[in-house]
Amino acid sequence: MNSISEYAKSFPASGIRAMFMLAEKYPGYANLCNGEPNFETPQYIKDSAVKALSAGMTRYAPQVGTLAFREAVADKYTLQFGRECSPKNVCASLGGVEAVILTLMAIVNPGDEVIIPDPSYTCYEAQVRLLGCKVVRVPLYEENHFRLRADSLEKAVTPKTKAVILNYPNNPVGAVLTPEDAEQLADVIERHSLYVISDEVYEKLVFDGKKHYSLAQVDRIRDQVVIANSLSKTYAMTGWRVGYCFGNAELISHIGEMQQALASCVPGFILQAAADAISGPQEETEKMIAEYEARRDILEEALSGIPRIKVFHTEGSFCMFINIKELGVSSRQLADDLLIKAGVLTVGGQAFGKMGEGYLRVCFANSRDEIREGAKRIAAYFNSL
Ligand SMILES: Cc1ncc(COP(=O)(O)O)c(C=O)c1O
Repeated sequence: MNSISEYAKSFPASGIRAMFMLAEKYPGYANLCNGEPNFETPQYIKDSAVKALSAGMTRYAPQVGTLAFREAVADKYTLQFGRECSPKNVCASLGGVEAVILTLMAIVNPGDEVIIPDPSYTCYEAQVRLLGCKVVRVPLYEENHFRLRADSLEKAVTPKTKAVILNYPNNPVGAVLTPEDAEQLADVIERHSLYVISDEVYEKLVFDGKKHYSLAQVDRIRDQVVIANSLSKTYAMTGWRVGYCFGNAELISHIGEMQQALASCVPGFILQAAADAISGPQEETEKMIAEYEARRDILEEALSGIPRIKVFHTEGSFCMFINIKELGVSSRQLADDLLIKAGVLTVGGQAFGKMGEGYLRVCFANSRDEIREGAKRIAAYFNSL
């Protein structure tokens, strides 16, 4: 059969999906794998969508999104960044995933290089390749707490580099961006006139009293940064598929044009609910964040007592990275063994890039009971070795 595209034939299989497929054969597992809030979308958001539907918001919305939605996002950033932001800085997207590819479509040409840290969220590589660009992975090191260092970024830059995709707070390692790191990275970004696609879908999931810091807050590079954001994690709205790109107005207008080729628009009633989510009461989100922090503490404490593994303190996101190198088995093998022999679903770090080999990712997006059970099963497995 030669009618399948080269792209489809070489499409990188998702390591996370592979684990879920395997898990179908082993029901009854404790799920520490999925990066999806187990909360319901808050009622005020659902009510808003129903109201918008009843009011007849059933037709195509503008490509860039409704004005109400873009205003809600602009107001959010005006407050957050302390500078005037406008609806012209905002284009609606089908979640964070589409925000990344819309932005790439507006900035890259075939043959350009795009830098992606290793390990990283699994979707970026396929998106970059889809546009005929070369992926350049830049290694993150445990000894630097998996933070991207400016000198590592500098080394990866060539005359063909067009953009870098960064993600803080981070999946899979749980790191956040510090203002100091941001300044140093900004030097390289400014010197080489790179675009940054800054995936900030976990912006609210920051713990220990810390606050999210965005590269878009570094004034001298702010026009080079496009934030890819989403309501999926912040408001437990993964199934709604709504997010946005936020960046300089000229670039955003081109990003808006790109929506024509992908989805035409994000549905209007979804955008109305999303606008109300962002500008409405934030108490439910705050409660969810506090609960995630409590779950992180439970998981970290339970896993830290297990010999031969090293747990990294998650500062943000609901992902935790664990060094399993002392065991001398591959990450995939350990994830398989944990599922099959211990009944706990995790994912090997190799699913996020070569540098993830020797690590395991566990998530605390599920209930406390599920987390306790999962950690108990992991401990029992290690004790039986
Ligand atoms: C780092 C990162 N970016 C983007 C996404 C996609 O989220 P969305 O539902 O907004 O498309 C995820 C989902 O797990 C993620 O972990």
